[in-house]
Amino acid sequence: MRLLLIALAAAATVVVAAGAEPILRLVTDIPTSVSAGGADADALFCDSWRLSVETGNTGPWRAVPARCGPFMREYMEGERYASDSAVAAAESLAFAAQAFASGEGGARPAWVFDVDETLLSNAPYYAVSGWGLQEFNETSFDEWVDVAKAPALPSSLKLYNELKGLGFHIILLTGRSELQRNATEDNLLFAGYHSWEKLILRNARTAVQWKD
Ligand SMILES: *[C@@H]1O[C@H](CO)[C@@H](O)[C@H](O)[C@H]1NC(C)=O
Ligand SMILES: *[C@@H]1O[C@H](CO)[C@@H](O)[C@H](O)[C@H]1NC(C)=O
Repeated sequence: MRLLLIALAAAATVVVAAGAEPILRLVTDIPTSVSAGGADADALFCDSWRLSVETGNTGPWRAVPARCGPFMREYMEGERYASDSAVAAAESLAFAAQAFASGEGGARPAWVFDVDETLLSNAPYYAVSGWGLQEFNETSFDEWVDVAKAPALPSSLKLYNELKGLGFHIILLTGRSELQRNATEDNLLFAGYHSWEKLILRNARTAVQWKD
């Protein structure tokens, strides 16, 4: 606290000396949406919760908070998810193109893709199973995997083809079980992916240990 006060005092001095508009601004207080109800409060809270999940701050979690069902649906089915995906794919392509150029003349680099929620979208499954409000049900998810009809995330399919065009080796690494190899290959082809060099599936161990 003492350090903060000193910093504030120094900043205030600068403002006075410059004789300009005050540059100090108060930080917005904790919004009541964190505890309050109502659609607007839920939307604000759920967007923050999603960011916390995406950045890994939430750690392992079991279910989407009960108040976030409608938010999840709107996020997944609306333009925001598609937009987030498009930005991530564009950043990835820029990185890939630069990496490829700087390694010119060397060995062809490899690109490793995850499968679920990267190349394939399981949104149709989550749409009929409550948008993550219930704990993940491995049995029903495996049934959905066997159907092999998950669509591609459009931006990922585009990135996949662009990387192949650049000359990358394409490796797929998934927490799906080796027992799901056929269904996964069928599904990838159904969604428009082809010519990957290797599909590595999980043998025993948990998905996270396996991917590490
Ligand atoms: C999980 O899914 C299976 C297969 O659809 C179903 O039989 C089972 O009741 C579900 N379990 C729970 C806890 O919902
Ligand atoms: C996968 O398909 C091949 C033939 O394409 C078959 O021989 C094999 O038994 C299948 N594996 C599983 C786990 O269904």
